[in-house]
Amino acid sequence: MVEILVNQQSNIFHLKNDTMSYVIKVEEQGLVSHQYVGSPLVSYEGGRNYPRVDRSFSPNFYAAENRLYSRDTLPQEFSSYGSGDFRTTGVKVKQANGSNVVDFRFDSYELLDGKPPLEGLPHFYSDQAKTLIIKLKDRLINGLTLCLLYSIFPEGAIVRSTKILNNSQECLTIEKIDSLQLDFVDADYELVSLPGAWANERQLKREPLESGIKMLRSERGSSSHQQNPFGALLRKETNEFQGEVFGFSLVYSGSFQFTFEKEQYDQLRLNIGMNEQQFSWELQPNASFQTPEVIMVYSDQGLNGMSAVFHQMTKDCLLRGKYKKKERPILVNNWEATYFDFDEGAINQLIDEAGDLGIELFVLDDGWFGKREDDRTSLGDWEINEQKLPNGLTKMIAHGAERKVAFGLWFEPEMVSEDSHLFRNHPEWVLQVPGREKSRSRDQFVLDFSRKDVREHIYQKMQVILSQNEISYVKWDMNRHLSEVYSVGRLSANQGETHHRYVLGLYDFLEKLTTEFPKVLFESCSGGGGRFDLGMLYYMPQTWTSDNTDAVARLKIQYATSLLYPTVTMGAHISDVPNHQTQRITSLEMRGHVAMSGTFGYELDLTAISKEEKQEISQQITFYKQHRQLIQYGQFYRLLSPFEGNDCAWMFVSPDQSQCLVFYYNVLERASAPFRILKLAGLSESAVYTNQELGSFSGSELMCSGFYTSVIKKGDFRSECYYFERSEGKR
Ligand code: DGJ
Repeated sequence: MVEILVNQQSNIFHLKNDTMSYVIKVEEQGLVSHQYVGSPLVSYEGGRNYPRVDRSFSPNFYAAENRLYSRDTLPQEFSSYGSGDFRTTGVKVKQANGSNVVDFRFDSYELLDGKPPLEGLPHFYSDQAKTLIIKLKDRLINGLTLCLLYSIFPEGAIVRSTKILNNSQECLTIEKIDSLQLDFVDADYELVSLPGAWANERQLKREPLESGIKMLRSERGSSSHQQNPFGALLRKETNEFQGEVFGFSLVYSGSFQFTFEKEQYDQLRLNIGMNEQQFSWELQPNASFQTPEVIMVYSDQGLNGMSAVFHQMTKDCLLRGKYKKKERPILVNNWEATYFDFDEGAINQLIDEAGDLGIELFVLDDGWFGKREDDRTSLGDWEINEQKLPNGLTKMIAHGAERKVAFGLWFEPEMVSEDSHLFRNHPEWVLQVPGREKSRSRDQFVLDFSRKDVREHIYQKMQVILSQNEISYVKWDMNRHLSEVYSVGRLSANQGETHHRYVLGLYDFLEKLTTEFPKVLFESCSGGGGRFDLGMLYYMPQTWTSDNTDAVARLKIQYATSLLYPTVTMGAHISDVPNHQTQRITSLEMRGHVAMSGTFGYELDLTAISKEEKQEISQQITFYKQHRQLIQYGQFYRLLSPFEGNDCAWMFVSPDQSQCLVFYYNVLERASAPFRILKLAGLSESAVYTNQELGSFSGSELMCSGFYTSVIKKGDFRSECYYFERSEGKR
């Protein structure tokens, strides 16, 4: 159910679905106040008015008869810069005379069925959603309109964005424009965020909000390993299963900022948008600017409740194309097996082994193009490396097809090596400030994807490879962040647009590519999970979660990633031991149980493993195929957090609650350890479920009383897997 109720008398807008209500009111002087967000309300009559009190040093309106009303304290849907609200601002626009003060007041509203698309930007879609557009007009600049867009979805979320239209005669410059502002009347929340680093992405952090400003941001031109564009506000008592939580994610792959300001009266203001340090935009008369959008989820059923909505919204209303609902193939990637050291013979051997084991897709990673023998050369030269692959790709692909192994290929389209034909021919195609040194990172430069000619050249190169070969999968990598961001040839007044234009250029490229090659499965990657965001998922339905393939490290990474991203979007591979990133040795069983909890694959030398290992791998593949639908499209629940203890557990429940699969991981062994009872979630209370070894339980028994994990198995880094099926005929 979704409704937008408008009370013309009290000027109240009430957006409502089965899990939340969101209420807005137009107040005196045309300020749009935030009234309520939380559990669904039957109706909102508006008895709770924001107290009118004289707050010193909080400015009043010029014509006001008293000092009781100030925009500096009122919870508002959006705040204008410089006109008396001293908290974080949502919008700042500079005029030709140098002023950047704005003063937006309510003008009108519009209701729409469905959710309008955002042109050129990734976005959620649904015919079932309903949309409210609140239009504000600046008091001075005649014709400057700010539209606040709210779309409420039956799946449980609200998606917000902002659009600004300049119908004035003046050329203006937007200095800041957020996608969302949300004012809470109290700041009694803890913040959950996902900071990290390369090979250590998305480490769940929970902290109280203190007075002043807390910022989550990326300055890297990419959503980044260092901070994911996600934040959640939780009450102190909220945990995985109960309590209130608000979750937010910006649908954007570039630099961003989340600002949490606990202000003087302990109210909380949240602003989310593109990173303002790296943004300005010239707005010509009759032009408009649309921000990326933010998804906002409310749940009173803890973090698992929040994740369920994020997952459903992503799976049903964001992912697109052939693989939206389709089971993803089990793949083997040659990166950790060979790195740059391969030739056709070696690849064919890997393909042979893959075929024998029932692996469905082989991915040829970095090193197949130009004269690439290491990471210092040839990016940009997207032609076959004839030294390594004298017969091109065709023969290898045919070799795979005979063994029912499809073929996938790695690209890093946004980058160029100094040692490449492309750079030698077009040094001006790189992001750079004239006369300044360019920073190196992995010895490569960033191509200026804000330029159409650059994109067209790379597109054409990829198009040749993809149309001349039977390629079923593409891994799109990005192995450095953006520095010296300046576009050669762009006017100085427009240089501040380069960051955002880069991202728009990337999206434009991806839209074209995925439309032209609809059968290809695309996986995005940025040195692992450096660009794991909802923006990229709109174009590519899976992301390589991390370059860290160690099973123990992956527990935390995958656990925290699942806060908002569905497990079907998380690439997870079994690699060799000692692990290449941590040197840790874990069992093949545990590596399997971790990797199977995502979009499953292998990343090791299948020609160099023992007979016993091959046998085990073959069993893993059979098992995964048997349960793939449940794992990739079931409901995911986190049960035990690796951030809180030595063990970890999660589970998958089929949509009809007829089966579930539970994974339990124990990191370090302990002598005389207490018994561990595992309690499940998401089952039908009255159904009876049976596990071959453990026996039968009612759903409520499994959820409230639980079962003991193994007391026989011993040793570090071990895991267990339990499959339960509803016993038909019984209750
Ligand atoms: C970084 C990726 O995350 C790896 O999986 C691999 O593709 C390398 N790049 C190749 O350079």
